[in-house]
This record gives sequence, C-alpha cells and structure tokens, in this order.
Amino acid sequence: MKAKDIRKLYLDFFKKKNHKIIESAPIVVKDDPTLMFTNAGMNQFKDIFLSNTSVKDLRVANSQKCLRVSGKHNDLDEVGHDTYHHTMFEMLGSWSFGDYFKEEAIQWAWEFLTDICKLDKDRLFVTFFKGDSSAAISKDQETVDIWKKYVSEDRILEGSKKDNFWEMGDVGPCGPCTEIHYDNRKDNERVLVPAQELINNDHPQVIEIWNIVFIQYNQSVSEGLTLLPHKHVDTGMGFERLAMIMQGVESNYDTDIFQPLINAIANKSEINYGSSEKQDIAMRVIADHVRATAFSIADGQLPSNTKAGYVIRRILRRAIRYAYTFLNIRQPFIYELLEVLIKQMDGHYPELDSQKELIQKIIRQEEESFLSTLDSGLKRINDLIENIDGDIPGEAVFELYDTFGFPVDLTSLILAEHKLRFNKEEFDACMKSQKERSKHAQKKDIGEWTIIMDDQEQEFIGYNKLEADVRITRYRKIIESDETYYQLIFNLTPFYPEGGGQIGDTGKIITSSEEIKILDTKKENKLIVHLVSDLPKQLDIIFRAVVDKNKRIMSARNHTATHLLHEVLRDILGDHVVQKGSLVDPDHLRFDFSHFSKISVEDMEKIEIEVNNRVLSNIPLIEHSNLPLKEAEDMGVVMLFGEKYEDVVRMIQFNTSKELCGGTHVAATGEIGLFKIVSESSVASGVRRIEAITGLKARKYLSDKETLINELKTSLKTNDIKKAVGDLILEKKSMQKELDKFRSANISNLEQKLLSSATEINNIRCITQEVSLDGNQMKQIAYSLRKEHNL
Ligand code: SER
Repeated sequence: MKAKDIRKLYLDFFKKKNHKIIESAPIVVKDDPTLMFTNAGMNQFKDIFLSNTSVKDLRVANSQKCLRVSGKHNDLDEVGHDTYHHTMFEMLGSWSFGDYFKEEAIQWAWEFLTDICKLDKDRLFVTFFKGDSSAAISKDQETVDIWKKYVSEDRILEGSKKDNFWEMGDVGPCGPCTEIHYDNRKDNERVLVPAQELINNDHPQVIEIWNIVFIQYNQSVSEGLTLLPHKHVDTGMGFERLAMIMQGVESNYDTDIFQPLINAIANKSEINYGSSEKQDIAMRVIADHVRATAFSIADGQLPSNTKAGYVIRRILRRAIRYAYTFLNIRQPFIYELLEVLIKQMDGHYPELDSQKELIQKIIRQEEESFLSTLDSGLKRINDLIENIDGDIPGEAVFELYDTFGFPVDLTSLILAEHKLRFNKEEFDACMKSQKERSKHAQKKDIGEWTIIMDDQEQEFIGYNKLEADVRITRYRKIIESDETYYQLIFNLTPFYPEGGGQIGDTGKIITSSEEIKILDTKKENKLIVHLVSDLPKQLDIIFRAVVDKNKRIMSARNHTATHLLHEVLRDILGDHVVQKGSLVDPDHLRFDFSHFSKISVEDMEKIEIEVNNRVLSNIPLIEHSNLPLKEAEDMGVVMLFGEKYEDVVRMIQFNTSKELCGGTHVAATGEIGLFKIVSESSVASGVRRIEAITGLKARKYLSDKETLINELKTSLKTNDIKKAVGDLILEKKSMQKELDKFRSANISNLEQKLLSSATEINNIRCITQEVSLDGNQMKQIAYSLRKEHNL
C-alpha cells in the first residue's frame, strides 16, 4: 500500500470514531517560548490540556509535521546513521480532550493496527508504566488490565519513567504512556532472540510504532507534578515507521516516502544506494534534511544566524557537508530535490508546491554560500598543514569551526588523510569556554506562577478600549541577564500583545497610591502577559489599566498601511508576492515578501502612489470579528502558510484588502495621513524588504529633507541648488587638473634636486634625503630616476 493511502486509512478510521480531522499545525512554533519547532502532535493542544483555553471539539485527529532537532526531543545525531530516526517526520495523532480515556484509546489502536492495517498480532508487543516511587506515581494497572483483553500477558511489558512517562519538555503537560512495538525481524532471527529482550534497546527492527499518552499531570519547576483538572488522551504514531511495516521493508528509507529522494540523490552522485555504508548514510541524511528544510521554509522559517533560523541552517549544512565529503558533490543540488519531494507528497501539503520557487532559491543560496565556506576552509587547512609542524593547534581548528562554520569532523578527516591530528584538548577547552559564555549570555530564570485569584478565561478588550479596571490573576518572576522582571496576567486586558508582526502595547496600571509601568505585552501560548520591572505593593486590588494611546495609534497607522502595501504589491508586481514576515511598531513598518528581483524605481514610485491613493480614499475599516474560516476563504481573504488559523477568524477589510489579522487598525485609511517608503532591500534570495513610515513620522522625514535643502541653499547662497552643485563639480574637476599639473612640475624639480644631491658610497650612487611625499609620488620619482638615468 502506498504511504499516502496509509495516511488516509488512519484519518478515515478516526473520522468514523467521531474525531474531527484537522490540518497539521505549522512546523515552526511562534507563540510558545519553550519550543522552537513542533516536536509532537500535541503541542498545539498544550493550552487545552492546561485548561488555559476552552475546548471546541472533544475528539480530533491529524497527520502532524514534526521536527525533533532541539531541546528534550532531539534526534539529529542519529539521523542517517540508523534507518528509523528522522528530523522531520509525520506523526499520525488522535486526541481526546476530557472525553474518552484508556479503554477506547487502547481498543481503537489495536483495532486499527490489527483489523484495518492487518499487522501480524504475533509481532506486536505493548509496554506500560511500572510506577515511580520517587515521583509518587503508582503502576498503571488499569492499562495492563485493558491490554489483557487483546494480548497475552507475556507481551505486556513494564517500562520505567524514562520510557513510559511522556513529557513534552522539562515543564508542561505529561502522563504515563503505553507504547506499541513491532517486531519486524526475519523469522530466523525471531526464533533466536525473543523480541521482549530487544524492546527499547535501539534495535532497528524492533521498534516503537505508536505511543498512547494518558495526559493527567502538569510538570512545573516549583510544584513538581500536579494533577490537571481533566484527563486526556494524546496518541502519536510514526507514519514513516508504519509505512515501513506495511510495505514489507526493513528501513523507513526503503518506503515510497524516501525512495524517490534516495534515487534522485543516487542519480546525481552516480553512486548506487547500498554500495557502501558511508555513502548510504550520506544519502539518508540528505533525503531526510531536505524535507526538514523545505517544510520549515514553507512555514516561514528562513535559515539565519540565530535561534530557529540557525537550527535550520545547521540541518541544511549537515546535508551539504555529507554530499561534499561522501558523495563528492561540490555543486548545489539539494534544491533540485524539492521537485521530487513535492511529487511524493502528492498535494497533501500544498504549501510546498505553492512556494516552490522561493524554497528552491533559498536552499540554493545556502548551498552556494556554504560550499564556498567549505572551499575557503580547505584553503585555510592547507595553509595550516604547510606551515605547522606536528599537531595542529586546537585553537586554529576551533577558529575554523566557530568563525567559518567549518565542520570539525571534516577537519579531522582531512588532517587524517595527511597523517596529522589536531590538539583535541585545546579544541575542547575552546568549545567549553564558548559554551559557558553563551550559557551565561542566554541565562533566563523563569519562576513559577503565583496565583492571586482563580480566573481561567482572560479576556482581551483592547480593540475597543484603551483603558479598563483590571485585576491581577497571577504573576511570576523572570531573571534575565541579571535583570529582574515580573510577568502579570490580568482577568481582562486592553493591552495588545505582540502578534501578527505588531509589537505589544506599553502603558501603565494605576492605583490611588502608585503607578506601575507596563514595559511590554506578549502572548505566551494563549495567555496575555504584561511585563513590569516592579510588582505593585498590593496585588489583590483593582487597577486602572491605561494603554499608551499615542503609540497605539501610531502602530495602528503602520499596521493598516502594511495591509494596503501588501495588496498594492500583489497588484503591481504580481500574485507571486507572498508575505514572509512583518514588523509593525509605532515608528515604522517593515514588510518582507517573496519577489525575485530588485524593484525598479518606477515600480517603487507606483507602489507609493497607489498606497497613498488608498489613504486619500479614506476607506473605512470593516472588522469581521467572528467569521467562519470557510466564509473568509470564499470572500477571497489572503491566507499565509505557516500560520495556524482557528475555525472562526477575524478578518480585517479595507475595501478589496482582506486579511486574517489580530492586530489593531485605524477606523478609516485617511487616518494614516501619509505613506512614505524609506528603503527597499534584499533579505535573502527571493525575499525583498520594504520599510516605510506613516503619519507624522512621514511628515518629519519629508520636513527633515526640506530643512537640508534650505540649509544647502543658505550655504550655497542660491535657490538653484542643482545648478550650484553642478558648477561646483565642474570647478572641482578643473582645479584638480591644475593641481595635478602643479604637482608634476614640483616632482620633476624635486627629482633634479635629489639627483644632484647624490653621493657615492662604495661605488654605489646614493640619494639620502627626507622628503614630504605620498606613496604614489615616491613611486613616480623612483621609476622616473631609474628609467632616465639607467639606475
Ligand atoms: N505526545 C506523544 C509523543 O509524541 C504521543 O503523541 O510520542
């Protein structure tokens, strides 16, 4: 059975069990500071488990794009070396939010695997949590009893907290789990060693395929494990592993999910897959990493030098490096694999196809730049080899790695080819001190929430009100780079939290006796957190919350202008323009979008005029605050890949401009006053950036230019600056000519003088004199003396 049919089989099965089938959340996480990438299907439901948000559908299922390359779940080093770990993989997931629990979850998993997928029951084994006295959690006997209905007791195996207690990260929702394992070995191997001995022992053919977690706890630093208000089910099955079993192969890479990619890589390198272990690993690494990179770029995460962008850059570089070293491919080619990937996904993830050109350009640019890094690194290593006797200093290898991004294992490989080594101790010491430096720089100590009053549903009222009476429901302490802050949560809030590119509101909360500044407002998961540097003296009272109105209005002007600009760009440059990022603050707006060449001066002019036309038309805002997503789509709203939309959305409309947006806007476009572009530049290959200003900032920008012109008029003593500057340039040119003539005459005089002062020392004519000349003039004299006097 083809992989795409297996995916469908799973989703259809859970649909029949009354689960709502939903889209995969974006692979890039935007509003959870504890996570960079989606590492499990349950991430998007964290707030439901924690009861931070209400539940709409009690049962859901999907196929989720996951990336396990950082934090608690990081498989990067295994990828390629074994046959069943991936950076990016699809997780077939099903969830119950306070609805059914262990009985149904186990029954359906068994039914799906044995009745629908027809897996051999004799090859299936299950595990349960044996309890943990240090965490005061008892054995999960209930799960054992349920499993006994389906499998014999010798196939129900106990597991420790490490294997059978699932945690998303160091903190967050968690619970005991029961895993289903499959023995994929050949019959002759199966008779020799019982599968029970190989489960959870890194055997490539005895692997976990499905994990069913009974989420009942929250793990926090201060309180440890606490019970959640409700019990939930969170299941996740490895799609690629299930495909391996159902397609009767022994490696995920031998399924139709990876084979087209592996074949394309084999063709490119002219090496057969299966001919050598090292080359096979390289092919698997590349096949895996192109998926991780392509999906991340499609969801808006471009490779960069910081945070999530750096993780993506490192993954792609790992692939380039394996191709370079083991497959001898020294030209960009990974970007070409995108075609193969898109074909393989067969429309299930349309974000890949619709952004194909952009993804390819970005991967290609990364390939070109890293290949040239590898080239210059090689030159530097050659220099080291030629100029240093014995071991190469560890500092030099560290510099190559740290400054030039040259991989250490490649350095040792090259040195080994020359029968050389580097000083590993010195290298490790450099690495250690760098890690300590960055650990210190990043140190952020987040305290636990202190509850002031019980209130689960926080309300945002800031679209209509900039002031309100609020109560603090909880707070926590943050220590970052030796500075102490507090985060406050209110029962309701007029402060807009950073989101959709717009920065968070600032302002204050006031009582009769004090005033506390709100320094920033952000959204963490679904909670709006307000940042302050001091806690109010009394916390359990009513505060008057006041948003900085001026800054809010300035941001609103820029936000609406961003929507107008987006639409105008698509009108003038074409529909290929897709938003790739934006920043809206009180001072300016920044809009990144896909477009493949520099925008001409004429087009820039047209764009600016067209946005200003829409400003002058004073188009009123139409806010559709509770619109079903489907209706918004039918109305032609602009949808962005990499965004997670709810079923009911907020659509902001200014005549034909329609965007899904949570930001704050002007009541009519005339309030923008004036729109002025101040720069146009490139951010990455295929991504351009426009920066612009509005309102009084735009007026100031133009009036500063006017002041400059007036100052120039005064200093040039004329109203016709253009002519005066033209005259000055001509005058400068003719004076330069005069000066050059004068200098040459001087130089020939000096030459004569120098010649006549020459003395003879040991039959050699010498000129010794101190002169005041620049390098060029000295050279001129020296050449002329040599030529004219045969010296
Ligand atoms: N959250 C669990 C896992 O990722 C089950 O979905 O394994």
